[in-house]
Amino acid sequence: MKLGPSIPVTPLDYRQQARRRLPRFLFDYIDGGCNEELTLRRNVDDFKRLSLKQRVMVDVTRVDTRTDLLGREASMPLALAPIGMAGMMRQRGEVQGARAALSAGVPFTLSTVGVCPVEEVQQATGAPFWFQLYMLRDRSAVESLMERAKAAGCNTLVFTVDLPIAGMRHRDIRNGMVGNRPGSRLSRLCQLATSPNWIVDVGLKGKPHTLGNLSELVAGATDLGTYRDFVESQFDPGVTWDDIAWLREQWKGKLLIKGVLEPEDAQAAAGLGADGLIVSNHGGRQLDSAASTIAKLPAIINAVGDQLEVYLDGGVRNGVDLVKAVALGARGVLIGRPWIWTVAAAGEEGLRDMLEIFRQEVATTMALMGVNRIDELVPELVEPGNL
Ligand code: GLV
Repeated sequence: MKLGPSIPVTPLDYRQQARRRLPRFLFDYIDGGCNEELTLRRNVDDFKRLSLKQRVMVDVTRVDTRTDLLGREASMPLALAPIGMAGMMRQRGEVQGARAALSAGVPFTLSTVGVCPVEEVQQATGAPFWFQLYMLRDRSAVESLMERAKAAGCNTLVFTVDLPIAGMRHRDIRNGMVGNRPGSRLSRLCQLATSPNWIVDVGLKGKPHTLGNLSELVAGATDLGTYRDFVESQFDPGVTWDDIAWLREQWKGKLLIKGVLEPEDAQAAAGLGADGLIVSNHGGRQLDSAASTIAKLPAIINAVGDQLEVYLDGGVRNGVDLVKAVALGARGVLIGRPWIWTVAAAGEEGLRDMLEIFRQEVATTMALMGVNRIDELVPELVEPGNL
């Protein structure tokens, strides 16, 4: 018997569709990790090892997934993580992501190296969103980015600290995405030629293919290669906590430090007046063999959980994972690959659908644990799960 196409439900379903639709170098850029991808796998696997307690005969008629994230109500403890070049995965992908997040009632984070600039996202949504920033060598460029973000209504700055230099992404080298090895260009062209849907949607209708937040700084550039060279030359491996102190003075809105994995670093972030931090290893894209984020979460909560809001990203693939992270003390989680796989495969509408299923998954999981409210999710409800 022949079956019709099945309906995508989970982020992994959308991942399969994105794999078919995107040129390989773009799919691998979002899908891959660094080196042997050990940390990428650990992030996911360590969630699976944890068990949740099933509780029965509790009145769960009022399950409510709503919460406050940095003082604003959200429909569930989740935000969309910054993704570089989302607009290369789907036509104006950042706008589609931001719109879907807005209708789902969760924050969207725009990457410094997004295709759509802050102004375009603001125009498309008319609502506040989060802006992710890297420290650039040119501090006046950093100041001007912060000003533009503020003017575009960004209320939260997400400052990335785990990328003093880029990790070794072997898939990107293999696919000719980075480096100028002989054959790289030809290889990319062949991959593009075999992705007709992408060519129409992004290649033709998704222009300009620039990094909108940086276009003033890279005057006249029209191809992403020139941007890449600029970004590489501007990344500042000399950034230290002193720069965060400077940043804290400049930025009056909420400040989230993204990329902390050790309690000492969490204490430094708290000491400098950050409003929150994100326990993150950059989705397994930086230091291979770093521990998973969920394994590190309890120690960080223990160190700073009473001083600032602690978020987590890395390995969250569904609502059950979210519940585990929140029960272990996270204020909320960020998802990266799940949203970009979905937007790449099915655009804004697909992402709206995926986020609603995600929310239902959180609600169902809570109900089956005998929990009505997010603040009733406590560490005692999570077990290591070893036999
Ligand atoms: C950028 O932050 C990347 O991980 O590619």
